[in-house]
Amino acid sequence: MKKIFLHTILFATISILLVCNDTNSCAAQDISIIPLPAQMQKKSGSFAINKQTKIEVQQGNPEALRIAKMLAQKLQKAAGLEIAVIAGNDNNANNTIFFTTVSTNDSLGNEGYQLSVTNQSVIVKAAQPAGLFYGMQTIAQLLPAEIESTTKVNNIYWIIPAVEITDVPRFTWRGQHLDVCRHFVSVDFIKKYIDNMAMHKLNTFHWHLTEDQGWRLEIKKYPKLTEVGAWRKETLVGHIDEKPKKFDGKRYGGFYTQEQAREVVQYAKDRFITVVPEIEMPGHATAAIAAYPELGVTGKKIEVATYWGVLPDIFNVDESTFTFLENVLSEVMEIFPGQYIHIGGDEAIKDQWKASPKIQQKIKELGLKNEEELQSYFMKRIEKFVNSKGRKVIGWDEIIEGGLSPNVTVMSWRGMEGGVTAAKSGHDVIMAPVQYTYFWFNQGDPKKEPLSAGGYLPLEKVYSFEPVDPSLTPEEAKHVLGAHGSAWAEYMESEAKVEYMVFPRISALAEVVWTPGEKKDWKDFARRMRKQFKRYDYRKINYAKTPLDIGLEKK
Ligand code: ACM
Repeated sequence: MKKIFLHTILFATISILLVCNDTNSCAAQDISIIPLPAQMQKKSGSFAINKQTKIEVQQGNPEALRIAKMLAQKLQKAAGLEIAVIAGNDNNANNTIFFTTVSTNDSLGNEGYQLSVTNQSVIVKAAQPAGLFYGMQTIAQLLPAEIESTTKVNNIYWIIPAVEITDVPRFTWRGQHLDVCRHFVSVDFIKKYIDNMAMHKLNTFHWHLTEDQGWRLEIKKYPKLTEVGAWRKETLVGHIDEKPKKFDGKRYGGFYTQEQAREVVQYAKDRFITVVPEIEMPGHATAAIAAYPELGVTGKKIEVATYWGVLPDIFNVDESTFTFLENVLSEVMEIFPGQYIHIGGDEAIKDQWKASPKIQQKIKELGLKNEEELQSYFMKRIEKFVNSKGRKVIGWDEIIEGGLSPNVTVMSWRGMEGGVTAAKSGHDVIMAPVQYTYFWFNQGDPKKEPLSAGGYLPLEKVYSFEPVDPSLTPEEAKHVLGAHGSAWAEYMESEAKVEYMVFPRISALAEVVWTPGEKKDWKDFARRMRKQFKRYDYRKINYAKTPLDIGLEKK
């Protein structure tokens, strides 16, 4: 007995010495959680995972069981440890990681959690399953970065430093967007994107599904949307400003079947992420009009767009066009069960409306002043339809022009102003201002960066973003649901390039939307990013190394 005890002491001592003598293994001691928890106290000691460790979940709690199994699976893959996951209510058991929901702690809300790590146990408590899931993500981040490996890593001490954490997110809307229209990505890639969002405790995937350059979602009632609208005859090569324009001459396209879209929705749901589909109107409609020319204003046969920019083709306002859009949205709402449907509304060039006697006649008949009011009429009609199905709409901030519909949520992209105006008039807003959250800009010296939209949005600028404008009163500020990062894909011609542009900026964005504003600290974030990059490596993310090249902590 005594001998075994001595052995244990000796092993623990050697482990700690090894951990602290070897910078690689020292990761176990390095607490680098991103996003930074709301409250965290480091304690002395640590919890070592070994063959005898058990994961115990509260009896009769299937969500806790599912989440616990995710952790067990990570440990199985990375550590080669077969950790038993059992149901029980003994949260004093030694060498146990315990997951439980508690009904008594209201302050944790829908997504918060408490995590207590001692030498004996790890206890995660939350009011709702999402909190347990985030607690599990935090445990993974307290472990060495090697936990993210999908193959066994040897010579690692699977040690969780002792901490007390009480963590709740600052915002309820913590989003990441992806444009799959300018360039298409596979379902497998979307699942990886969602997994990486989940690691960052993001909860909303904004899926931009329709555009001038491609319609990407199967709609059973209108098969030509994907037979015709999902394919373009070629694609611009280089930057849109280069003259003369060059094209690759290669047919390009793709779309998601409804079954695939449902699979994505379920995959996201399992990771506490809601998918918000975006169906663009009345502009950014070239692909739809190419498929069904009767939806357009000119009646001319047009092609799916092959280059970027703001294009002139726009939906008409015939009753049959509203019927088309309502039918499309009905299928969309069947696939996507979330509360919100995004109906676009941005960059609708109104030249065709101005030039059309039929549209001008309609403006008169409706007693409207101009084309902006016609767009407002358009969006309000669609909103009423979506609301009648028990859902809410989101629109880009242009929908403010010509008058806002009563229940719409505004996504502010042209800066903070749209969001401020909307919040001041009592509308919910999501902040996605171009200058802080558009991941299509360069992150470093343009001479060293790959082709992008141009501009400059380094990691620390994303990190400095404050979604609540100081001009808002506390009451108005409550309308700011949160923020998201945008991945417009004109210059993201491959899945690897999407990752390059999105990572690591998504890590900064995650901290903007999760961590209390006053706790943000660039230097500390930069330190924590070192371990995050290792996690990225194990997750095989093709992240931009630019922030490292330009001296992460020196800013
Ligand atoms: C946008 O970037 N047109 C929303």
